[in-house]
Amino acid sequence: MPENVTEKKKVIFSAIQPSGTITLGNYLGALQNWVKLQDEYNCIFAVADLHAITVRQEPKDFRRNILEAYALLLACGIDTEKSPFFIQSHVHTHAELAWILNCYTQFGELSRMTQFKDKSQKHADNVNAGLFTYPSLMAADILLYQADLVPVGVDQKQHLELTRNIAERFNGIYGNTFKVPDAYIGQVGAKIMSLQEPTKKMSKSDENVNAWVAVLDKPETIMKKFKRAVTDSEAKVCVGEGKDGINNLIGIMSAVTGKTSDEITAEFDGRGYGDFKVAVAEAVIEKLRPIQERYSQYIENKDYLAEQYRKSAEFALRLSQRTLDKVMKKIGYLAK
Ligand code: TYM
Repeated sequence: MPENVTEKKKVIFSAIQPSGTITLGNYLGALQNWVKLQDEYNCIFAVADLHAITVRQEPKDFRRNILEAYALLLACGIDTEKSPFFIQSHVHTHAELAWILNCYTQFGELSRMTQFKDKSQKHADNVNAGLFTYPSLMAADILLYQADLVPVGVDQKQHLELTRNIAERFNGIYGNTFKVPDAYIGQVGAKIMSLQEPTKKMSKSDENVNAWVAVLDKPETIMKKFKRAVTDSEAKVCVGEGKDGINNLIGIMSAVTGKTSDEITAEFDGRGYGDFKVAVAEAVIEKLRPIQERYSQYIENKDYLAEQYRKSAEFALRLSQRTLDKVMKKIGYLAK
């Protein structure tokens, strides 16, 4: 059991899909918070590989992406001594509870999920049942660990609300079983927007590669993408209505440096967008440099990675089995 897992601290659970490209949006919206929360809370983290097959995956790439996501998150600062960090498919309780929760989740609720609507449009040739029931798997992930808080970006807020509804419904029928979790959305970086269409969230599924920055992008690529970022014609570095591009760049600068938007505005008073874009790119490059260096060491050390995810999966299974047993007993399943 990791040293800091005590009964007193609040429990945090979060996960990320092994998409092949972990973006600056993922990092600033979620991962950076995960790392900071590790001392104050009992954190449990996962690579959500079961979620990932709602869209078709090429087996060889998929296997590599899972391991790369794992190594990258360690490089970002997840410390398995403090926070068990496992691979979702290694812990069978997730799929089991997900099935159960499917039976306590309404068709109408799932139909309202904006992510389902977006993804079913984007993958019109593969609108599978998993894409539809994805939020009950996510609810299972969270509820298995009786999590108090779930650090996510704004895009996951609706799924979190559904998780709360499912938990409350189940508790209403069977008595107190699940902790009803709250979303933990950071003040800065909660929604990093596309660099090309700054009214849309930054997403690696965007076909325009200049729209997103990957945590592992080379410095020159990062610089190029920021230089091409869409802005407005006002040429004044400040937050404002209709200035989505600049608002986003200020948000990124703030999330990366910890400076407030007022401080950033004052610093760039009288300077053009060209200067500002270069400064944001430089700040991002410096932030990502140590992560990229650590990543290249971890990814070379497959045995070390396996040791970390196996140890964490054992811990996660023990903990989650307790909740699953309780749920099954309440429903009326015959004990083994
Ligand atoms: P995923 O893999 O799409 O994203 C991982 C985390 O990154 C955040 N994020 C962003 N934040 C700010 N700006 C952006 N442009 C941006 N893009 C992504 C997401 O909000 C998320 O926090 N379903 C989840 C994974 C998951 C999960 C869970 C999360 C599975 N089970 C249980 C929490 C709890 C997902 O697809 O995230």
